[in-house]
Amino acid sequence: MSESAKLSFKGQEYEFPVITGTENESAIDIAKLRASSGLITLDPGYKNTGATKSAITFLDGEEGILRYRGYRIEDLAEKSNFLEVSYLLIYGELPTQAQYESFSKEITHHTLVHEDIKKILEGFPSNAHPMGVLSSMICALTAFYPDSLNPNRTEEEVNLSIIRLIAKMPTFAAWAYKNEMGHPVNYPDNSLDYCSNFLKMMFALPAEKYDVDPIVSAALDKLLILHADHEQNCSTSTVRIVGSSQSSIYASISAGINALWGPLHGGANQSVIEMLEAIKADGGDAKKYLDKAKDKNDPFRLMGFGHRVYKNFDPRAKIIKKAADDVLEKLGVNDPVLDIAKELEYAALNDQYFIDRQLYPNVDFYSGIIYRALGIPTDMFTVMFALGRLPGWIAQWKEMRENGEPIGRPRQVYTGSNERDYVSMNKR
Ligand code: MLT
Repeated sequence: MSESAKLSFKGQEYEFPVITGTENESAIDIAKLRASSGLITLDPGYKNTGATKSAITFLDGEEGILRYRGYRIEDLAEKSNFLEVSYLLIYGELPTQAQYESFSKEITHHTLVHEDIKKILEGFPSNAHPMGVLSSMICALTAFYPDSLNPNRTEEEVNLSIIRLIAKMPTFAAWAYKNEMGHPVNYPDNSLDYCSNFLKMMFALPAEKYDVDPIVSAALDKLLILHADHEQNCSTSTVRIVGSSQSSIYASISAGINALWGPLHGGANQSVIEMLEAIKADGGDAKKYLDKAKDKNDPFRLMGFGHRVYKNFDPRAKIIKKAADDVLEKLGVNDPVLDIAKELEYAALNDQYFIDRQLYPNVDFYSGIIYRALGIPTDMFTVMFALGRLPGWIAQWKEMRENGEPIGRPRQVYTGSNERDYVSMNKR
């Protein structure tokens, strides 16, 4: 028997269907709310509002659960790899050996980008933030592949755009870094796996041989898995709403990159390291800043702690914390900034003030630490987040298009002036 929810307003009763998902989450379907009652709902930040039904990622903020297509993030981080997880998110099932090999081969075949894109890159000053460079180059793909402007092409044509995105994103990301460093760009090396190829494009220099450290490549692959999707977060919702107007996948993903750029979203990992470096520059007294964080009159806030959705712990943070400890030990990293991070982490996990407020270290806290240990510069951290999130954005865009979802167009409650007559300039 289907459930329903009743609303009474100004003496009228209204009844709306309740739908329940496969993990027993229920939602009131208010598609007919305004037509039947004249009412709309108001929910700034949409914290209580479902924008869609999705079969891609399930997370439970209370229980600290995260699954991609039903598979536990813990299992995927331990047993899978980023390309296999990308396939799972986008096509819905773990690939067979043949499917995986074909997918990997297609991606390898498309890593190169049009030489004219280098001219776009060269137009950016070296102080351009790599996120702005990345979103610009992704959007520029609409110029080099104009057929992609129509999102309603055949499944094969849409899939080619998907392959091109996954294949070229590491190239663009590495080139954005090289532009910042004033170094010549490196072309992809198709003999390498996805993460090793990215690291070589990032760090290889013409003057010397570059060998990818397998420890670094493996840690990066795990980080990308952990960031691959997270249901209807800000940047994914941006990708969906831009795609809902039938903008191309490249324009939609470019918009998602720009949403992720914000310090309240993907930029949080960059803000964590900037916070740690500021504490170090101020003498490195972690306790001083822990006390400042507790002082409600002090504007200082701890970055990388707590989460809007996870109320007890971020399952990705547990996995990434272990990876951070392993990588720092294996690489023999000795960094005072990371020592400060350890002091803040210990306090957050043991000080009742932070425990009571669920201010535990989140995925951004640890990802910033690992990226720093891997030698990735701070303003590239959010680019790394985008690299990981790409398959999730693609999967969500694809699901939205395949489900024929309508254009996103929220309503509002108007609070401005009531009707008034125009006043000529000489009477104001
Ligand atoms: C994410 O992974 O997108 C972040 O944790 C933010 C979120 O889910 O709201």
